[in-house]
Amino acid sequence: MKRRIITIDGPAGAGKTTISRLLAKRLGYVYVDTGALYRAVALAAASANCVEDEDLLSDLFKEITLEFRNGQNGLRLFMNGEDVSDRIRTPEITMLASRLSAKPVVRKYLLDIQRDMGKDGGVILEGRDMGTVVFPHADVKFYLDAANEIRATRRYKELSDKGIKITRAEVAADMKKRDENDSTRSLSPLKPAEDAIRIDSSKMSIESVLETMKRYI
Ligand code: DC
Repeated sequence: MKRRIITIDGPAGAGKTTISRLLAKRLGYVYVDTGALYRAVALAAASANCVEDEDLLSDLFKEITLEFRNGQNGLRLFMNGEDVSDRIRTPEITMLASRLSAKPVVRKYLLDIQRDMGKDGGVILEGRDMGTVVFPHADVKFYLDAANEIRATRRYKELSDKGIKITRAEVAADMKKRDENDSTRSLSPLKPAEDAIRIDSSKMSIESVLETMKRYI
């Protein structure tokens, strides 16, 4: 069977990560969480204190290696050999990733890395611009969305379960800001590709989203 390139784009909290991970497992595909790459870049920029300087950022990128590895705890991201998977999930890095993702120097750096990760097919790529910019010729494109309230509740639960101290109101406000950043930036804004299959997961179970996607695939 053909090893397809499948993209899943959509806003935060729509269920992309859960669905992408499960779908990849069922199909025997590789799962690529591109948001994690933006988050790692944000962590590197914050650590090097060069968030605002495009020249310093581009120098920094020459020194970074990013690699996904499958471990016992699922997909882990290693930056320069160090597992940064947990450190990139804080609310601060989340917001910084969104802010930095509007910068051309950041998007340009990650474009080739993402294309390289998906080029052989047999892959599910999750992000914001996978179907519009990174893989415009992907075999199957999904755009997964859900109502704002539901997305905020899901994200709040996810963060609380990880022990991160944050209120639901803060999560909802951060999410609103991030949606705005991600969908109004001039470079590769979050939007459905014209040929994307749109799925609203608000009232759907995980299983029914997976079944719907599998039918299309
Ligand atoms: O999917 P996520 O929440 O982990 O993504 C973090 C941020 O990274 C998101 O707010 C915007 C940016 N991002 C992007 O611009 N393009 C992608 N393909 C993936 C993420």
